[in-house]
Amino acid sequence: MYSIAIDGPAGAGKSTIAKAIAEDIGFIYVDTGAMYRAIALYFLRKGIDGHDRKLVAAECPNIHVTLEYDEEGKQQVILNGENVTGFIRKEEVGKMASVTSAVPEVRAALLDLQRNMAKTSDILMDGRDIGTNVLPDASLKIYLTASADVRAKRRYDELQEKGTECDIAQIKSDIMARDKQDMEREIAPLCKAEDAILVDSSDMSIPQVIDTIISEFKKIK
Ligand code: DC
Repeated sequence: MYSIAIDGPAGAGKSTIAKAIAEDIGFIYVDTGAMYRAIALYFLRKGIDGHDRKLVAAECPNIHVTLEYDEEGKQQVILNGENVTGFIRKEEVGKMASVTSAVPEVRAALLDLQRNMAKTSDILMDGRDIGTNVLPDASLKIYLTASADVRAKRRYDELQEKGTECDIAQIKSDIMARDKQDMEREIAPLCKAEDAILVDSSDMSIPQVIDTIISEFKKIK
């Protein structure tokens, strides 16, 4: 069984790249950020302050997140029996996920599920702590990053394309705040695993990044 861990900061293009690679090599793609987003959605819907760590921890036994795959192989996130895949991509959900994912009970609620998935299939999992914490023995670990300016510009272009009004300076400052929060939390902070390969995509195209990672995988296969 092979497992590939791709970690990195917000907006580094992890999911686009991970999805394409998983499809190419026939692995199941596990987007762990989506699982943290589903939990964040639960707190947003309940109107719970994500910074109230005691309350967040106390709610965890009531939250059940699972993953399913549709006929096209696309990951679906199920929150307490409801498919919430269509509700988790909003900016406010990402921000809340960054806050509530720092609570140990939230992380514990997802860890076994994530680890068990790697026991039964070849998987490519992306997130913040996959190489360092979830799958410390992953067959291949990638730390995918890009400068904050480049990540902000990519996000800006994406929003412009959708016709959404946005301010690039605000996007950059949100990205930097999220990096700081994810990197400085006490439990499973975002950092490069010692044995991860650093891929800085600032000056690379998406196909170049995909090729780089696939050729690293071919070396170990
Ligand atoms: O990758 P994303 O934007 O969907 O992730 C949302 C938040 O979830 C991210 O800011 C931090 C948290 N997260 C985490 O703590 N650990 C992971 N493995 C994945 C995401």
